[in-house]
Amino acid sequence: MRLLVLSDLHACAVADYALKDSSHYSPHNTAISDLECPIRSLLGFIDARSKKDAMVADYVICPGDIIHQAQPEGLSKAWEDIHTIARKVNAKTVIATAGNHDVDSRHKHSDFDPKGELQTISPFFPLADETFSNEFWSRNLTIIQESEANIVVLNTCAYHGSSDVPDEQKHGRISRHTLNYLDKRLSEMVNDLNNRVNILLCHHHPQPVATPNANDFQDIKGGADLLAILNKPDYGSWLMIHGHIHYPYVEYARGTTTSPIIFSAGSVAAKLYWDLGTTTRNQFYILDISRHPSGAVVGQGQAYIWGPGHGWKEADAQYGIPPVFGFGIRNPPASWIPQISSAVSSFLSWDELVTAIPDLKYVSYGDIAALAHHLRRNGSPRFQVSEVNGSITEIVKLVT
Ligand SMILES: [Fe+2]
Repeated sequence: MRLLVLSDLHACAVADYALKDSSHYSPHNTAISDLECPIRSLLGFIDARSKKDAMVADYVICPGDIIHQAQPEGLSKAWEDIHTIARKVNAKTVIATAGNHDVDSRHKHSDFDPKGELQTISPFFPLADETFSNEFWSRNLTIIQESEANIVVLNTCAYHGSSDVPDEQKHGRISRHTLNYLDKRLSEMVNDLNNRVNILLCHHHPQPVATPNANDFQDIKGGADLLAILNKPDYGSWLMIHGHIHYPYVEYARGTTTSPIIFSAGSVAAKLYWDLGTTTRNQFYILDISRHPSGAVVGQGQAYIWGPGHGWKEADAQYGIPPVFGFGIRNPPASWIPQISSAVSSFLSWDELVTAIPDLKYVSYGDIAALAHHLRRNGSPRFQVSEVNGSITEIVKLVT
């Protein structure tokens, strides 16, 4: 199953386009060229691919913050542009969730209804199916079951806009009632959970992260309980996809060795101010996800980065995530060395090595870096390892 992930578009009003903390995407701004707009650039980037190399995906996934500061000006056009991208890549549908910027939590644009704009756009939000969308708004989550996947769409902004809870809009939350509802629903679909890929889509991160902006307090209140439910032994293997922090990473959640994979999607269009401007770039992703014979969700991703005036190109590992990355197989890095030693008689390219040991393509880039370290320093025999842009390219067995 292939996902195209577009997070944190932050579509802004024309009047706010020049602000440093707004977005490069201003849907009604006709004064800027296509190359100055990441979404119009993306449409061109997809069109420019050859037929043989066409970009296709089964779903377009949007982990929230489609608009900036709940400005209604760009919402319909941004939602339409996301659907245009979905049509271009032949996706079955768009699946989004609400971000803190999508909800008018500070009541700047509506008197009393912080989510009214989202509930009245067309197609329905967060997905075109009215029944699923109604469940999302009434129960703070919905579960889409397809032949290959179970997809939970969670609203971590459900209480934003309440004047009774100070600073509620500064973090995510899942309530005890929503946790119980999720647990009950999952307990009724154990067979499906153990035969399909399981994905949870939400806006906020489930546990604090070490981003370049330290002191993270914006995680989901109740996130630890959410992870504990997903990590129940009967509930299969999970990939969580979130946005919000505009900083990409792949890591494994707290819990057992079957804890959820957490994929943090960087922002496709927000202006990256403070330290983010030097540590990451605007990004979008292709994720190929499948169920490993062990039952684990595994996948390979492709990351692309954008710069104003430069358009889209494959990612650079110095900006947080390599252009090709894996996830899901979490063997200790050094434990691969005996298999690699058997496979490499003198020299192998990474592609040849992956043909010999296919699970290596599902090893995370953090573990790949550790593996390269162990191959060079601790292996017996020792290896020469070449790395380019966050990936191993070739391995040479040294004669000692
Ligand atoms: Fe955001």
